[in-house]
Amino acid sequence: MNIHKVAVIGAGVMGAGIAAHIANAGIPVLLLDIVPEGATDRSQIANTALAKLLKADPAPFMHKKNARLVTPGNIEDDLPQLADCDWIIEAIVERLAIKQDLYRKLAAVRKADAIISSNTSSIPLHELVAGLPEDFAAHFMITHFFNPPRYMRLLEIVTSEQTDQDAVEKISQFCDFKLGKGVVPCKDTPGFIANRIGIFWIQTAIQEAIDMGLTVEEADAVVGRPMGIPKTGVFGLSDLVGIDLMPHLMRSMNRSLPTDDPLREKATIPPLIQNMIDTGYTGRKGKGGFYRLNRDGGQKSKESIDLQTGEYSPSQPAKLDSVKAARDGGLQALIAHPDKGGQYAWRVLSQTLRYAAALVPEIADDICAVNTAMKLGYNWKFGPFELIDQLGADDFAQRLEADGQDVPPLLTMAREHGFYRHNENETLYLQPDGTYLPLQRPPGVLLLADLKRHAEPLLENDAASLWDIGDGIACLEFHSKMNSLDPLILEMIEETVEFIPHHHKALVIYNEGSNFSAGANLGLLMFAAKLGGWDEVDKMVSGGQQAYKTLKYAPFPVIGAPFGMALGGGCEILLHCDALQAHAETYVGLVETGVGLIPGWGGCKEMLHRWSTNPRMPRGPLPPVLKCFEIISVATVAKSAFEAKDYLFLRHTDGITMNRDRLLADAKARALSMVEGYQPPEPPVFHLPGATAHVAMEMAVNDFRAQGKATPYDAVVAQALASVLSGGDTDMTDTLSENDLLALEYAQFTQLVRKPETLARVGHMLETGKPLRN
Ligand code: NAI
Repeated sequence: MNIHKVAVIGAGVMGAGIAAHIANAGIPVLLLDIVPEGATDRSQIANTALAKLLKADPAPFMHKKNARLVTPGNIEDDLPQLADCDWIIEAIVERLAIKQDLYRKLAAVRKADAIISSNTSSIPLHELVAGLPEDFAAHFMITHFFNPPRYMRLLEIVTSEQTDQDAVEKISQFCDFKLGKGVVPCKDTPGFIANRIGIFWIQTAIQEAIDMGLTVEEADAVVGRPMGIPKTGVFGLSDLVGIDLMPHLMRSMNRSLPTDDPLREKATIPPLIQNMIDTGYTGRKGKGGFYRLNRDGGQKSKESIDLQTGEYSPSQPAKLDSVKAARDGGLQALIAHPDKGGQYAWRVLSQTLRYAAALVPEIADDICAVNTAMKLGYNWKFGPFELIDQLGADDFAQRLEADGQDVPPLLTMAREHGFYRHNENETLYLQPDGTYLPLQRPPGVLLLADLKRHAEPLLENDAASLWDIGDGIACLEFHSKMNSLDPLILEMIEETVEFIPHHHKALVIYNEGSNFSAGANLGLLMFAAKLGGWDEVDKMVSGGQQAYKTLKYAPFPVIGAPFGMALGGGCEILLHCDALQAHAETYVGLVETGVGLIPGWGGCKEMLHRWSTNPRMPRGPLPPVLKCFEIISVATVAKSAFEAKDYLFLRHTDGITMNRDRLLADAKARALSMVEGYQPPEPPVFHLPGATAHVAMEMAVNDFRAQGKATPYDAVVAQALASVLSGGDTDMTDTLSENDLLALEYAQFTQLVRKPETLARVGHMLETGKPLRN
């Protein structure tokens, strides 16, 4: 992609985060900032920023070793080093004169085809390049990252007629493939797309909540989940990003917003909020925000602010019938409901969606760009035009009219057929000229959601489906609650393995839920345990072992394509695949000990096999066993696909895809590449040390107990794990088969699961989502 070296100037919040993410792509990056007055270390700001990056949580680096790719420096001594950079990103203070001053210096040192971009959130492109050499302007654009740069998928790109098209293409490709971003082209208008609509939405939701006398909990309950927006809603979101940020962004946008823009009316900051900012109540980074944790008396309790009086009191969950109605009846039921939640929902949605509809084509060429920007920049599940389609474009327009509001021209055009139309085998979207164009994904982007709209599954039950994704490849999709693994999924695995050889060549295991899989269905386990249905529980353990083994020895390649969380049984299924193509943001781990269990679906066995055949492992019987114990006993979760390779949850040969939208196509390509001459793996044999290893692990547990790091029940679970990993009653001269190891897992798992302490852990996890330390 011709970008081999990058420089980021400005080592503040954004610059440092962007530099870390460029390093995540494996590209060396210079990180420069000013020389602080009187400093002995002239690169102090960038050096400190790098040190902070390594401590930040969530981690900006996908692997700590990536920090080595970042070279800190300063703009006085290190400018000559920019001469061989292919891309120079400016992320300094939001002041036009200071930015332009820097650009003049960059113009003098950059190589001929180097691309310069600004991360500005509010200064128009034409102002940034005004007065600069033509050739500089041709290689200049705005690349607007969202905070935090590793995790927020949106990248808005603003260019002008002057911008060199090859340069735009080069940066777009790099950001898409290497940084995993959803690249959205925007016009040179204030706040681009996401902040223009996002700020309007936040300001509207806050002001209406104050005007209507809603509590912050009520407002967030309406504006969050029922609209497919994270449950932080608007007040929780403002606390997260900083309450002072919005007025700041508002003010700078106001300088360039059209004089009749409805956002201008929203620009006033309510006295309550101004007072919060003035007194340091700026959100989570300050003394608290709309919500705060009160730690008085050593107890933590959640409080929220009264939007009328500014007083804090204990947070009360919202009780709104409209929110309940939305659970079954969706968005339509929400806005139709007569209670204050329903009225509030309509006021916020009607204004926000109408505003969005009036902004195309002013801020973007098409509705798809706007939808994507809101989904990737504000984590909305649906974009504004998808929300209008859910309400029915005509119904929405009618209610606007009934309210005496203008209907924007684009919405008028959508009244008959909506913004999106679904034909038998394609989806079309409405363009600003009133015609419909087929929705086309870029090459290398394959989405199950698209395919499902026009196809029938090959096999299906309530928890999983099998789809034909073309070229002889099938895709197994989980769709149970949290994609947890249950007997229906195990059944589907067995059926799939029988089905595929007749019609297909290979299998990809992939889905488009929030996470790949949260692990075995603990709710089901708890239910069976409460009824004393131990036979059912035992059957689920042996059924899982059998299904995963069937998958492993299937006569065709099986590729796992995880993303998000892949925990417990969700990790074990991956350990049984021939290869993985993982999204970079995959968080994988064997977390069973957290709920008082051990991996029982072949996880111990596969990890032992991987570590004992790992060429980097020191020789001898003990090291691989101890390594597995170290990883599994403390429920280690890798924080990225790169880190997962350190634990051998991923093999070193497994592929990593940076862009979530490219995962399925990459996994499919990998599957195809493995078809010819495919042979299932040879069953492993084990030589394990038995009692000697067990003693070593017992000593380690005793140490942890003595240091207060392990609870009494942790020790019991660790003992069970040690029994499996040591090979049980064996020694190095014995040969154990895969089935012997599975039998050990089964014996220990089925004993642990019957213990009240384990059930207490499982129950607590189901109720709170957190481990119980009993
Ligand atoms: P910041 O205040 O955290 O960092 C700015 C850095 O620039 C400081 O380290 C400062 O020492 C340095 N700096 C100032 N003048 C300089 C110069 N002449 N040469 C080199 N370094 C210089 O600011 P932040 O938040 O990182 O913002 C940077 C840019 O990113 C701004 O244009 C902002 O609008 C934009 N942005 C900010 C977002 C955010 O959430 N904070 C989100 C998206 C864009």
